[in-house]
Amino acid sequence: MDIVVLDSAEQSADIGAERVVEVFRDQPEGVIGLATGSSPQPLYAALAAQVRDGADFSRLRAFALDEYVGIPVDHPESYHSIIRRDVVEPLGLDASRVRVPDGLADDIDGAARVYDEAIGSAGGIDLQILGIGTNGHMGFNEPGSSLTSRTRRARLTEATRRANARFFDSYDDVPEFCVTQGIGTILDAKRLLVVANGVHKARAVAAALEGDVSAACPASALQLHPRVTVLLDAAAGSSLRSLEHYRHAGAHLISPGR
Ligand code: GLP
Repeated sequence: MDIVVLDSAEQSADIGAERVVEVFRDQPEGVIGLATGSSPQPLYAALAAQVRDGADFSRLRAFALDEYVGIPVDHPESYHSIIRRDVVEPLGLDASRVRVPDGLADDIDGAARVYDEAIGSAGGIDLQILGIGTNGHMGFNEPGSSLTSRTRRARLTEATRRANARFFDSYDDVPEFCVTQGIGTILDAKRLLVVANGVHKARAVAAALEGDVSAACPASALQLHPRVTVLLDAAAGSSLRSLEHYRHAGAHLISPGR
């Protein structure tokens, strides 16, 4: 894993955006995997700045990681809405080339299988953006998710529902179920770009990157992938045993004056 600790979330976002631009420069019709959550927000803002400077993402295909089950797609907190608002519009993606798992299908698991097949037919995901939940979840793969799981319906933990309650009127309004790309689906992507910021992520980040590979910490599956870049701000990296090494990597990436 290429683990890089930077001084701030803004630096991390700038470096992440450069990576994204680099990956798709030679494949403007490539496939990007999109994450929701607050972690990738600075990265999307940095990518929007790249677009203003001339980057063109309009021919990319995109697949989102997850969606709640049972809320209308036009609900402001559905991942359909968030992806459209935070990614499709500011980055100039073509909405007809962007897919989000279907949380309203009569046969959710059938629709989830079709989703995995669509990723395969698109040639696989070239670069998957990921965050890490405070309980070590990745996408909505909660602790206990099989490390070979595929896109499927899953139950959210109380911790995740409480963490996401801030986006809804109350805890009870947070859906109990979701559709999420599986850990196995995520590991099929050709490259993974993981972002985490803030001291509230430090424990999960350390467990994921330096702990045992275990379904108890789904993000520990990152250790099984050959091409992972992890961009952390100093607070999110603060519990890592090899912090100095990762900070050194960060310092060497930053050109003077950045
Ligand atoms: C959410 C999303 C995940 C995200 C994670 C962390 O519930 N389903 O894809 O990575 O939880 O969210 P945040 O970045 O807001 O901390």
